[in-house]
Amino acid sequence: MSFKLTPAVRRRLEKAARGAAQASYSPYSKFRVGTAVLAGSGKIYPGCNVENASYGLCNCAERTAIFTAATAGERKIKAVVVYTPTPTPTMPCGACRQVINEFGAQALVISVCNSAKRIETTLPALLSEAFGPENLIKGSHQRTGRKGR
Ligand code: THU
Repeated sequence: MSFKLTPAVRRRLEKAARGAAQASYSPYSKFRVGTAVLAGSGKIYPGCNVENASYGLCNCAERTAIFTAATAGERKIKAVVVYTPTPTPTMPCGACRQVINEFGAQALVISVCNSAKRIETTLPALLSEAFGPENLIKGSHQRTGRKGR
């Protein structure tokens, strides 16, 4: 059973993602991204991409939003909306898919842009057979057969 967004919540998420893109700090790529996540509490958390002079430290909008939600105590992500001011929608990168999986293994993922084009899918479709928290539950760790390890 896939999760359904009401039209009102969907509108709020898209508006928050568009608003977040305005805060994008992207002087190097000039590629603005805004995200909004719908958390378990029903609250919406925005995030933008935040770049760094040390390029490898750039943080995607999705991760900013999810870490903001986690900081507020949220531990479930129901939906992720990504907005880019481009003619075609932008999908979360591989690293962000993994981060979404931590709290939103079944999350709805929606990408919108400046045209009518949009992509609407789910995290399991974007990251099949994901590695996640359940792989690390107590007792499921690998045994080395060696004492003290
Ligand atoms: N970026 C995101 O914020 N989210 C995505 O889904 C794709 C890429 C950012 C990272 C970097 O700041 C810029 O877009 C160009 O890669």
